[in-house]
Amino acid sequence: MIKMKRICHLIFRLLFLLDGGVWSLRNLSISVPRAVLSGEGQSAVLRCSYDLEGAALYSIRWYRAETEFYRFVPREMPPTMVFPLPGASVDLTQSDRHQVRIVNMNRRLSGDYQCEVSADAPLFHTDIRSAPLTVVDPPFRAPRLTISRGSYARGDVLRANCSVDEAYPAPNITWILDEHKIAETVSWRPSELDFKERGAFSQLEISILEAEHYKMGLTYTSSNLNRAYQDHYVYDKVDKEDKDVLRYTLIPPPNGQFALSCIATIYDIYARKSEPVYIKEDAPHPASVTGEDSSGTAASNSFLLTSVCVCASLLTL
Ligand SMILES: *[C@@H]1O[C@H](CO)[C@@H](O)[C@H](O)[C@H]1NC(C)=O
Ligand SMILES: *[C@@H]1O[C@H](CO)[C@@H](O)[C@H](O)[C@H]1NC(C)=O
Ligand SMILES: *[C@@H]1O[C@H](CO)[C@@H](O)[C@H](O)[C@H]1NC(C)=O
Repeated sequence: MIKMKRICHLIFRLLFLLDGGVWSLRNLSISVPRAVLSGEGQSAVLRCSYDLEGAALYSIRWYRAETEFYRFVPREMPPTMVFPLPGASVDLTQSDRHQVRIVNMNRRLSGDYQCEVSADAPLFHTDIRSAPLTVVDPPFRAPRLTISRGSYARGDVLRANCSVDEAYPAPNITWILDEHKIAETVSWRPSELDFKERGAFSQLEISILEAEHYKMGLTYTSSNLNRAYQDHYVYDKVDKEDKDVLRYTLIPPPNGQFALSCIATIYDIYARKSEPVYIKEDAPHPASVTGEDSSGTAASNSFLLTSVCVCASLLTL
């Protein structure tokens, strides 16, 4: 009986091909959440939409990584068949010809999900669509931020680390300075699914500019520094040689302090922020009143002048 069905199916598919395409199945599309949380009480609803153009439905089959786990055949009684999906179950009350609901998933069920639709006789036109789904085991705690110093002086370089507990998949880390995203570490993704939990780590170096340079209005040739005048904050893209450390150049904030925090994210399903760290300037400069800083400016100017002279004399040698 099954064999006969198979043969008929093949013959009809062949006929369909010879026919040059009589469509009785169109606009098949799959809609699967990119990520869901693992565990009890969590679920994923996978949808499949299609247009049979008046033809009857023969079957809907759902696969995870090539293994069928749900079948809906309206002509059969009962119409539903479920095959065991290790580490989860199908909620039959909310599964039908348009969707399947999976409950209590574990992360080993991450992977590609497919929906296959077949129209009924005579053509049995069949089509399939696939989409990835990741079952997320989030980190246990909030990300932790450590910083080399709790205060800064102009010209300093501060170093900060953000570390995140093991999770699946490894989270991305975003750095936030005074509500602005300034840098991001994108987690390494294994080429094959190994379902291993991994921690995440990001190192950031913040160089705080000398205010004098800014006030004197020296023109920097570096495009990164030029951007500082427009954006207030500069994010030098990762250095090629030392790509593990993110670098950021900061113009000293006028109020003499800034807040730093980091956020761990996993797709759009998990985001958690570290405790913010407030970093204050060691000895706040007096508010810039005209003439206040003249001594500093003069010193810098004479230094500049000396440098120019030295260079000039070197050139004339
Ligand atoms: C279905 O596909 C046809 C073309 O194949 C397109 O014109 C139509 O807009 C699609 N309908 C939907 C609902 O996507
Ligand atoms: C950041 O991590 C690096 C590498 O593990 C370590 O050498 C450094 O001391 C850490 N710095 C801070 C401020 O925690
Ligand atoms: C991390 O960020 C990259 C780039 O934005 C994104 O493609 C990837 O899906 C993100 N990974 C996670 C686990 O959120």
